[in-house]
Amino acid sequence: MRQRLTIAHIISEVQPFSKSGGLATIGGSLPRAHRELGHNVLIITPYYENIINVEGQTLEVVAENEHVELSPGIWEEVSFLKGMLPSSDVPVYFVASKKFFGERNTLYGAVNDNARFFFFDVAALHLLKLLNLKANVLHCHDWHTGLIPYFLRGRYKKDEFWHDTACLFTIHNLAFQLGHDWWAIPEGERDPGTSSLPTFDDVDRVEKINFAKRAIMNADAINTVSETYREEIMTKDFGQELNRVLKNREKIVFGIVNGIDYDDYNPLTDPGLVQHYSDKSAGRKKDNKLYIQKKYGLEVDESVPLICMTSRITNQKGFDLFSLVVSTILRLNAQIIIMGDGDKALSDMLLSVEKEFPKKFAFIPFDSNMETSLYAGSDMFLLPSRFEPCGLNQLIALRYGCIPIVHHIGGLADTITDFDPYEQTGNGFTFPRYDSGNLLIAIVRALETYKYKDTWRDLVVFCLQQANSWIIPAQKYIELYKTTIRLKKKFMRNGGGNGK
Ligand code: GLC
Repeated sequence: MRQRLTIAHIISEVQPFSKSGGLATIGGSLPRAHRELGHNVLIITPYYENIINVEGQTLEVVAENEHVELSPGIWEEVSFLKGMLPSSDVPVYFVASKKFFGERNTLYGAVNDNARFFFFDVAALHLLKLLNLKANVLHCHDWHTGLIPYFLRGRYKKDEFWHDTACLFTIHNLAFQLGHDWWAIPEGERDPGTSSLPTFDDVDRVEKINFAKRAIMNADAINTVSETYREEIMTKDFGQELNRVLKNREKIVFGIVNGIDYDDYNPLTDPGLVQHYSDKSAGRKKDNKLYIQKKYGLEVDESVPLICMTSRITNQKGFDLFSLVVSTILRLNAQIIIMGDGDKALSDMLLSVEKEFPKKFAFIPFDSNMETSLYAGSDMFLLPSRFEPCGLNQLIALRYGCIPIVHHIGGLADTITDFDPYEQTGNGFTFPRYDSGNLLIAIVRALETYKYKDTWRDLVVFCLQQANSWIIPAQKYIELYKTTIRLKKKFMRNGGGNGK
């Protein structure tokens, strides 16, 4: 019989409850995929009191006013609530604290973000004990949960309760290692990762703890969200100063490309679309285009290629390059819609482009209700990221037959292959080097290909037929959990549990 695992996902964002980016999409879909494979799954995440979306849920109080010890003699109060992940029977446990998660209107960006997640990590472990839930694997996502692997090999290493619990740390984005900018910390004050933790009341030092580094040094296994990014983060250029730490543990660092939920994203049933379609009725996609052009004030003309971008407005996503080529593209026969929020200077740049080209360019704030209509209505999706651990939007774009134009990097390199007009292979347009000339060439190649209607239709159908659901990656995670469990056993056999 197949082994049934108990898996605890510990993660700072879970769609639909809280979201700042792709992490939440994973938090809301991977646990469900694991449940569908027959495993016992639960999620632990913060209760961001002011902004949490718990519509349609009746939360159950699991425990109130529990006390957790953050450092010797320093205690804080915590409560735990329980909800359900929609369309599943996966319980979601919320860590609630007025002091740490009750007062802000954003998920992150507080001066004490490290303290908030230090507290969260201790509280998450406390909850599992309280529930007497001995998980086979704690799956810790990104820096916010980075002290958990550290605690398991440190303060709790002799604790029988955790004896058989293995810990996997997933890097969703190595640029984020703690609640603040790692590079802004003076070199001499950076956390070496090997010293003992400062006590919780040492505010200054707590805010300099490098959670990701401590996780990488202590997790039983580590993975990141694509195979190429796995290679990249072990190099100086992409390693964000952790490349050597990662290289030291290379044998236990893995790469698994994310999937997307094929029920959440389905052009045949998506309630947000004005016209449904599939690979068998791709021609119907055009109604969505006419709708989008009208809605956002562009010239309504089916024959003009429409490019969309949906991402945080930051330089990581390639907006610096984009700003250099946007007016050239618009002078060609093309339209562009950008949906997203973020950096002020970049947003101002986009607004001024919109002023200059009102019938060809639209810049709109992120609107989750309209996101999929944009993919359905556009011909091309642009994501020229400087670096990209995985990227989910190019997968969603494929699902809606919207052809990706991407930088050949990280997860984009693993999921998008360059279109070859002679061989008729490839599912998008890629550019190899991060510069504006390369980007422009890729866009122009896409616009040229668009002129060949039959070729373009075949490409759209090919993209609509691609398989990027969770089915395969969720299974790969299960295999990785088994490896993680073996590694933990080995660690314990070698005296790990005795502090040797
Ligand atoms: C982060 C990464 C993105 C990845 C997502 C989910 O947001 O920047 O590339 O797709 O996490 O793993």
